[in-house]
Amino acid sequence: MSILVTGGAGFIGSNFILKWNSIHNEKIINLDNLNYASNQNNLAGLSSSKYEFVKGSINNQKLVSNILRKNKIKKIINFAAETHVDRSIKNASNFIRTNINGTFNLLEATRNYFHNLSIARQSEFRFLHVSTDEVFGSLKKNDKPASESNAMNPNNPYSASKASSDHLVRAYNKTYKVPAIISNCTNNYGPFQFPEKLIPLIISNAINEKKLPIYGNGKQIRDWIYVEDHCDALIDILHKGKIGEKYNVGGSSEITNLNLVKKICKILDKKIPKNKKKYSELISFVKDRPGHDQRYSLDCSKIRKKLNWKPRENLNTGLIKTINWYLNNQGWLKKNINSNFRKWVKENYK
Ligand code: TYD
Repeated sequence: MSILVTGGAGFIGSNFILKWNSIHNEKIINLDNLNYASNQNNLAGLSSSKYEFVKGSINNQKLVSNILRKNKIKKIINFAAETHVDRSIKNASNFIRTNINGTFNLLEATRNYFHNLSIARQSEFRFLHVSTDEVFGSLKKNDKPASESNAMNPNNPYSASKASSDHLVRAYNKTYKVPAIISNCTNNYGPFQFPEKLIPLIISNAINEKKLPIYGNGKQIRDWIYVEDHCDALIDILHKGKIGEKYNVGGSSEITNLNLVKKICKILDKKIPKNKKKYSELISFVKDRPGHDQRYSLDCSKIRKKLNWKPRENLNTGLIKTINWYLNNQGWLKKNINSNFRKWVKENYK
């Protein structure tokens, strides 16, 4: 019996697979369509007896059904998604196709498979849908953090597509009794994150002495979680989470974008000092993102109380680990900064 991870060649999926592999014996099947942000090499070191890669889309119901049956899958963790807000603003079609239609097709294959399992195997089966804090929309500075029961209020095509997928997962649990759980997490950072996202973009640009772009006034607030802490939370949810429920996961590290970038600059000033110059001199304010959400923040008291989970890293320790990883893996960064990526940067920051 195995577990199915979708989107496991992406950032959070790769980290999850490495973590699961280090503590569990079940084989992992990784179904990934290898889009621009995924990288099979992240998992190159895993033994074939415990890991198998399948290239394909969660939209391919037939493929998913075959994988489920052939491998007697007992858990599905759905990471497969298009995730970059700015790309969704330029063109939402891939987001609708993967995040909404893909989740629908994955759920259809899952419900057919699930209903043909024995009662004993049904009772251990889980479908964990990995989602985001962005579905709750923008909070004001003094608003209470969003709890699991807050209404969804997505403001951009990406968050709207994730909210839609969350609704579908909930409906398949209520209507068809698919044993699904949803997790909503704050902004992740750590190894293997594609350099279009704020933290790896800033590290990569700083190393290469390029400008550090900050949208608008930089006063927007995000809560940041080190990716390994998120993966630990997902494993706890798989083992101890209640079917049909949602769990918020966050890093308890809210900070404005500008202060976050300054923090990264200070760490780099110490680690790889530049002659008399400070990295913060590279900061450059650029045109704001349309519909830019002011603040995301999650109330994570449920997972802390019910599952006894809490993050191990704070923003300082997590950023130091992350910066060390990117400094030690500049070859990985270089491979991702290819002509397609350069084209994206040119379009997005013109
Ligand atoms: P991002 O990493 O794209 O995550 P998300 O949009 O899902 O929160 O962006 C994090 C924050 O950083 C967000 O408020 C947008 C901002 N940002 C910049 O200021 N400059 C940039 O170049 C990027 C990519 C993001």
